[in-house]
Amino acid sequence: QELQLNLEQIEKGGYDHFMLKEIHEQPSAIFDTFRGRLLSDKGIIKMSGVEDNMKRFLNADRIIIVACGTSWHAGLVAEYIFEDLARIPVEVEYASEFRYRNPVIYEKDVVIAISQSGETADTLAAIKLAKSKGAFVFGVCNVVGSTIARETDAGAYTHAGPEIGVASTKAFTTQITVLTLIALRLARAKGTISSSDYRLQLLELELIPDKVKKALESDDLVKSIAAIYKDAPNMLYLGRGFNFPVALEGALKLKEISYIHAEGYPAAEMKHGPIALIDENMPIIVIATKKGHYEKVVSNIQEIKSRKGKIIGIVTEGDEQVRALADHVIEVPESLESLSPLLTTIPLQLLSYHIALMLGRNVDQPRNLAKAVTVE
Ligand code: G6P
Repeated sequence: QELQLNLEQIEKGGYDHFMLKEIHEQPSAIFDTFRGRLLSDKGIIKMSGVEDNMKRFLNADRIIIVACGTSWHAGLVAEYIFEDLARIPVEVEYASEFRYRNPVIYEKDVVIAISQSGETADTLAAIKLAKSKGAFVFGVCNVVGSTIARETDAGAYTHAGPEIGVASTKAFTTQITVLTLIALRLARAKGTISSSDYRLQLLELELIPDKVKKALESDDLVKSIAAIYKDAPNMLYLGRGFNFPVALEGALKLKEISYIHAEGYPAAEMKHGPIALIDENMPIIVIATKKGHYEKVVSNIQEIKSRKGKIIGIVTEGDEQVRALADHVIEVPESLESLSPLLTTIPLQLLSYHIALMLGRNVDQPRNLAKAVTVE
């Protein structure tokens, strides 16, 4: 018994929970994911799964992404990145919907399946369906040798290392890293990105691990904010553009481990429904980074404020405008807009962790959830 406990403590590497350890591992997990693939001095992205199948990628009129849960959110971020950088139309599908709705799949389609575990039953079924229609299926998995990694035609692993906490953290940011590399490689091949923008993207991506480290320094501040809002029955998460999926992921993290009801919304959709919920008891987390439609988000914040909602802003370092309006701000380092999800997601992970902990929840093994859902 004692030996067992000690072993677990060693595995947690000095952290109280796997989730916290995995949150803090993100700088190295992201680094490991682009190491050997991103050769910024040479201006090269090297991924054999993409290189060997370049014709299929370039021949495709669209990419369909299939995934579940947090991986689906990474797919949504990828949709914005692929369309923006590589100008390829992308559809992001819940694997469970896709597999049963008689979807239109062409032989020219590229299907990207994203799965941390590589064992999710619905994602696997979606892959089999796409393959049976002749599409080219590319896997983005974390677990080496997993079923999805084996069933796909080609793929690229995330190098996040084992993720034990049921709530996915480092898998999400490393999935975005891999997908960004693919999008950049395709953008270069298609000529949809200028060489200066391409270089800038590579250099900025290389800076992300250090910037994530910086973002993690907000831990004490996030903890103090968690203490204020931990008893809220509901929370709303808003973001726009690349950070809209981050709002969804932030809300999912909170639901999963704290059991507080939370919803993520694109900030501008607020006026079509969720605004009716806003009063002085509603905490609203707004991602308002400098480059991402900043002025528009600021006006959304003003609308919240006039309805007395409590505003927690996730902002770029040095921000003043949101600071003047919000009840709290949490800063993240500045980066390119397309890379900002890798930073804005950090305080949201920490917020759900601290709230869940304060509520006495089982952070690593929340009720009713499983790490890998191998049944439908
Ligand atoms: C489960 C896990 C989630 C995960 C989802 C998809 O619901 O609890 O954290 O995002 O499955 O899993 P996958 O392994 O396919 O990424």
